[in-house]
Amino acid sequence: MAKREIILLPDPVLRLVAEPIAIVDDGVRKLASDMLETMYAAPGVGLAAPQIGVSRRLIVLDVSETDEDKQPYVMINPRIVKRSDAPNVHEEGCLSIPDVRVEIERPAEVVVAYLDRDGKPQELAASALLATCIQHEIDHLDGRLLIDYMSRLKRDMVVRRFKKLARERAGV
Ligand code: NI
Repeated sequence: MAKREIILLPDPVLRLVAEPIAIVDDGVRKLASDMLETMYAAPGVGLAAPQIGVSRRLIVLDVSETDEDKQPYVMINPRIVKRSDAPNVHEEGCLSIPDVRVEIERPAEVVVAYLDRDGKPQELAASALLATCIQHEIDHLDGRLLIDYMSRLKRDMVVRRFKKLARERAGV
């Protein structure tokens, strides 16, 4: 496994619609392992492939609270097949947009269909933080970010700040 660099706003790869994965092979499994390592190191509870610069439909998650009960999920080509009417509001953060928190209302429960690391179709009913996290990560695969749930004014302020940080990182 290898830890990868996390791509930050405003890198355009974060805005692409990611490509479906046709075959679950060793390359995809390696990518998933690298993503899990990167997520745990951050630390974070979810990561989407575009966040390490790979525009493919793969997400990893682990919302467990301690190292002892780790429960990593690898979801390939995930899609929500059922949503509850009841909403839930969570304050969300994103490893690609450090130090920004946004309260977002989403369906409280979802059923997600995906392929696992062996390429086997799976379905998972999720609620609470896991449901939020799955929806957040699938947003990434569609080029959608948590700042899109903010007001235009606040979003523009965040984007300006991250553009400035990117220029500073590049030494411009
Ligand atoms: Ni995110």
